[in-house]
Amino acid sequence: MCGVLQSEQKGGGLAERRSVNGSKERQQERCFLVENVHREYFNQKAPQWDSMLTEEVYNRLKRIISSLKIKPGSVVLDVGTGTGVLLPFLLEAAGPGGKIVALDIAEKMLEIARAKVGDRAELVCGDITAAPFADGTFDEVICNSCFPHVKDKLQALKEIARILKPGGRLAVCHPMSREAVNNLHRSLGGVVGDDLLPEHEEMHELCGQAGFWQTAITDVAEMYLLTARKPVLSCRERELVPIGIIHSPYRSTGEAPRQGRFSDQTAELEVYPPFREGLKDVERATHLVVLYWCHLASRQTLQTRTPYGPEVRGVFACRSPARPNPIAFCVAELLEVKEGRLLVRGVDALDKSPLLDIKPYSSAIDSVAGASIGWLEDGSKKVKG
Ligand SMILES: C[S@@+](CC[C@H](N)C(=O)[O-])C[C@H]1O[C@@H](n2cnc3c(N)ncnc32)[C@H](O)[C@@H]1O
Repeated sequence: MCGVLQSEQKGGGLAERRSVNGSKERQQERCFLVENVHREYFNQKAPQWDSMLTEEVYNRLKRIISSLKIKPGSVVLDVGTGTGVLLPFLLEAAGPGGKIVALDIAEKMLEIARAKVGDRAELVCGDITAAPFADGTFDEVICNSCFPHVKDKLQALKEIARILKPGGRLAVCHPMSREAVNNLHRSLGGVVGDDLLPEHEEMHELCGQAGFWQTAITDVAEMYLLTARKPVLSCRERELVPIGIIHSPYRSTGEAPRQGRFSDQTAELEVYPPFREGLKDVERATHLVVLYWCHLASRQTLQTRTPYGPEVRGVFACRSPARPNPIAFCVAELLEVKEGRLLVRGVDALDKSPLLDIKPYSSAIDSVAGASIGWLEDGSKKVKG
């Protein structure tokens, strides 16, 4: 058990763990360890840790945290807090109405953090891949200089998505570029020699698979910063989760056609493994209705101009991606199905759009002879009063 935690979470602590049957139980024991090799490594490093950090590193970290504009009153988790380097910045950002929780597998690191912050932060000894917190606990989860050391990165991201509130944000950061982080770990060798920050493409994929969207990465000499959001939408009590991701040739809004039907380009619908059972018999369809989330579209727009003329139209009277719930659909031709990947023609989605649903298209059910948009064809109006 981690001595550092025994006395500090007697009341009001956030740490808890789910029991085997899925219910949540407050733990008597406050230490949740699953990863011993790194734990021992970082315990050994703890006494010298702070002396290795330069003023420049502190300044970079301060800038990263301030760029996040964390709202006062936020509940924030610092994953892999180490000696609590970030804690003063996080305490300042969340203010007196906020709550800061710091997680680490290495109890010696936490002892040093404790000496710095006293009871102004809740310190928890545990592994982010089995996060000892209830669903929907945090507004912000920050993972500074820790993610490369996490063995099962997808599991860690899934846990972070679980413990974030809907709309909550993940930030994975380092006070240097990805290349510099990886070179540093390679040069240190030993336990951390293979602890690498994945390529951007892979980080996007992992975040998508864990259920995040709006993933954005900044990678420059003085910092690496990935941010991603847990979806806000909920339908009854269940959140809308992407079932996959769309790989398309369109990288920016300007490149996508007005309608997928007007394009002869192909795209790939990658369905994530947990949902692939649902693809049974899909290969028998000639065309699919593809529903996806326009992850780069504005959600504040209710009226907009269309590519067809200068008039302003309501978003519910046109197919603009900008709308309160930016859900788009296409009727796409199904060309091939292979191991959870569907090759289709006729999708206008931007690359990396979260895939929400797939349904077979039927000309008998879905085609209405003579149906029209109205303003596009003849300007007719049915509004009364
Ligand atoms: C390189 S240190 C960074 C510490 C601190 N964030 C900083 O910037 O000084 C990485 C920290 O992550 C912790 N850590 C590594 N793997 C972890 C995991 N799976 N869950 C929680 N903490 C972990 C280590 O114990 C260590 O304290």
